[in-house]
Amino acid sequence: MNSELFEAARRVREHAHAPYSHFPVGVALRTEAGSLHVGCNVENASFPEGWCAETSAIAAMIAAAMDDRGRAIAEICVVAMPIDGRLVTPCGGCRQRIAEFGRPDTLVHVAAPTGEGHSYRLAELLPAAFALEPKS
Ligand code: THU
Repeated sequence: MNSELFEAARRVREHAHAPYSHFPVGVALRTEAGSLHVGCNVENASFPEGWCAETSAIAAMIAAAMDDRGRAIAEICVVAMPIDGRLVTPCGGCRQRIAEFGRPDTLVHVAAPTGEGHSYRLAELLPAAFALEPKS
């Protein structure tokens, strides 16, 4: 995996607001335009109101996008502490959010803060994805 992407995700994880789960997550994504965006999880005392690091990074991408390539995810990297020795993969909702702006072959890298990692294609994580044609 691209080390710039991993380092950006590892660094932003330190900004996470995770006082309830104590499970900070950092995400960095690169768009087809080459821009890089980061995000971390932001929890809330009213638990369901918190959101994931992937969601934060996608929101940053959309806010900054100048064109379609700027809102197309080329690759995304998730950094979190492994759980029971297993690298953390995006939750179901975030897989669907990545699918909104990615393609079946979009690379989804998952890594521990130490750098140990694995790369998936989005279609492996979200087979038979739900999709609608955008209407003008
Ligand atoms: N979380 C993420 O931000 N991304 C993931 O891929 C997995 C889970 C967050 C949500 C919550 O703040 C904490 O991790 C524990 O579930």
